[in-house]
Amino acid sequence: MVPERWSERDAYEAYMGRWSRRVAPLFLRWLTAPVGLSWVDVGCGTGALSGAVVAGAAPVEVTGVDSSPAFVTAAAERVGDPRARFRVGDARELPLADHAVGIAVSGLALNFVPEPARAVAEMARVTAPGGTVAAYVWDYGDGMEMLRYFWTAATTVDAAAPDELDRFSAVCRPDPLRTMWTGAGLQGVTVDAVSIPTTFTSFDDYWTPFLGGQGPAPGFVARLEPVDRNRLRDLLRSRLPAAPDGSIRLTARAWTVRGTTPA
Ligand SMILES: C[S@@+](CC[C@H](N)C(=O)[O-])C[C@H]1O[C@@H](n2cnc3c(N)ncnc32)[C@H](O)[C@@H]1O
Repeated sequence: MVPERWSERDAYEAYMGRWSRRVAPLFLRWLTAPVGLSWVDVGCGTGALSGAVVAGAAPVEVTGVDSSPAFVTAAAERVGDPRARFRVGDARELPLADHAVGIAVSGLALNFVPEPARAVAEMARVTAPGGTVAAYVWDYGDGMEMLRYFWTAATTVDAAAPDELDRFSAVCRPDPLRTMWTGAGLQGVTVDAVSIPTTFTSFDDYWTPFLGGQGPAPGFVARLEPVDRNRLRDLLRSRLPAAPDGSIRLTARAWTVRGTTPA
């Protein structure tokens, strides 16, 4: 498995950041966390979730942690709030003391962390007794249509294409999420879903971000020979449901999970 590249902020924003930014406020609405908490955002990337926390959850502070130095810099610049700070670090060994925060969250990141259960255990460790540990991940099955169209076409072009559904199904489904949360000692575990419309103004608006090299699908496109890349593009163009004005209206569903640390 070729590791993902997470380093080019604008390419990430165009590909996935713009959609994570839409999910984050819905996730926070679902969480209904009290105001005045200290938060940690694990795998914060370019700051989609941290930014939503600052904008809508009235935190006392937010610490974003990500293993990509370039994304940590981007998050600090984008969020630009004195209550938010961003640190390079590994989700499996968070650079925070025990019980340092009131709530630990993570958006679209857990499935990319090797040993995700260890990351959840770390989120529980740094959260104060009675605090919340919560996350959202894409439903890589039918629920995340942008990626489902992509990987269905990709496996037509290359039967060995590394479909994220296969790769992440051990994490990104309700039962594994519930198991990870209860396995970390969290209580009152709830798994749910939030959906957003993902509307592309044109086929180019859908396809061009896949050429940016950030994450599994763009990484796969970058490794294709030009002839196969063009085949994949044309296959997608023929299969995506374009409206008469050229727009492509899809939806994306994320699984959400939350639990409480023992009091
Ligand atoms: C799909 S992005 C999600 C970023 C952001 N949370 C969002 O919603 O847009 C996945 C992120 O996980 C980060 N990541 C991957 N492995 C990690 C690890 N072991 N520790 C911390 N961050 C990690 C990547 O650098 C990347 O920023």
